[in-house]
Amino acid sequence: MTNGFPPGFTWGAATASYQVEGAVSEDGRGPSIWDTFAHTPGRIVDGTTGDVADDHYHLFAEDIRLLADLGLKAYRFSIAWPRIVPTGSGAANPAGLDFYRRLAETCLEYGVTPYATLYHWDLPQPLEDGGGWLVRDTAERFRDYAAITHSGLSDVITHWITLNEPWCSTFLGYGNGEHAPGRPSGADALKAAHHLLLGHGLALEAIRSPEGSYGIALNPAPIHAASDSEADRDAARRIDGLRNRLFLEPLLVGQYPADVLEDTGMASWFADFADDLAAISAPLDFMGVNYYCPTTVAAPDGPISSPGTPSTQPGSENVVAVDTGLPKTQMGWPIEAKGLRDILVTINKLAPELPLYVTENGAAYPDELVDGAVADVERQAYLEQHISVCRELVSEGLPLKGYFAWSLMDNFEWAFGFSRRFGLVYVDYETQQRTVKDSGRWLQRFLSA
Ligand code: NOJ
Repeated sequence: MTNGFPPGFTWGAATASYQVEGAVSEDGRGPSIWDTFAHTPGRIVDGTTGDVADDHYHLFAEDIRLLADLGLKAYRFSIAWPRIVPTGSGAANPAGLDFYRRLAETCLEYGVTPYATLYHWDLPQPLEDGGGWLVRDTAERFRDYAAITHSGLSDVITHWITLNEPWCSTFLGYGNGEHAPGRPSGADALKAAHHLLLGHGLALEAIRSPEGSYGIALNPAPIHAASDSEADRDAARRIDGLRNRLFLEPLLVGQYPADVLEDTGMASWFADFADDLAAISAPLDFMGVNYYCPTTVAAPDGPISSPGTPSTQPGSENVVAVDTGLPKTQMGWPIEAKGLRDILVTINKLAPELPLYVTENGAAYPDELVDGAVADVERQAYLEQHISVCRELVSEGLPLKGYFAWSLMDNFEWAFGFSRRFGLVYVDYETQQRTVKDSGRWLQRFLSA
């Protein structure tokens, strides 16, 4: 037992291709929607891009060594679709496959199990030009890319995650436009949700084999009503529908939540998807949960449309996020470790046998490197609280199989650029020097106890 966890429990850290790799024009990689978006003035708060990021493309061996030194036994990274299939469709780029083969082999040399995510948001730009996730063709191209990648790498990678947080691709990419491709599409954004889920289902069908383990990583969150009033409870129902049930129910129960389709006026568009739902709800080997914070919502009088509130999502007009006074991280996200319990229990009720992983959990703080060290006490406390919830759930018998910290190292935090640091390891972006933060040292001691 490691501090109350069973020996087989998986401990890892995660990253994603565009956030860490850099090398955006090397070895035949094509442009993705994040290259385009980050290079569009005004999209990224600090005006930065992922062109270089952590230069993980060249420094991955050092980074995997650091991960292994911390005592972690699993590395969740993502594969950049535009490295493998540069225009989004057609033949494989051997240099792209080769990079991930070297990365996976390096993990194995260090006794680290690679967990590969096939889609962590870097859609090849030509596919966006053809309609992006709003069109069905993208789901089919995703299946083809998944099949190429799996057949090229399944001898070195056995753990596969199809999509990362399709809610973000849907509602930040096509809902409010805060993320690439930055194309606010009203209720049509829900089409993206369906095509992403279909892409997951088609890819799963194409790659699932008895030798591997296959899942998806969602970002469900508990949604609290600010009060017991009928209006606030209804606001919570609507946001829970968009954030959680729109993804969990097709995957785990094989149907879309009727109230969400009603609220958004999309019921007739979603009417004929029985075959798609069969693919979407095909059995998973595990579900990954990325958890950061809960959301509390209210329905005040009158229309609300301030950016960043849930009201920017279709079907959630007149809903605002409410500050309940909990302490917050630098993202402004309230800290509530119990929310991790709530959401894992909710999923466990829908699918009692399904193995679960926390595929991301972590916090941003304004870290400073002082005399070669980063004293990030708040991040350590955040990790301790959430890991403790995991320990309780495992001891209660919930099939939680692993925990991945977000992130192994500081990186390009999407629309926030490099202005937010989530790493266990501090990155100096001028020199590319890595320094393990105190939270990383704490985790290392925890894992060796
Ligand atoms: C979830 C995303 O998967 C990851 O890419 C992001 O950096 C973290 N949340 C923090 O926002």
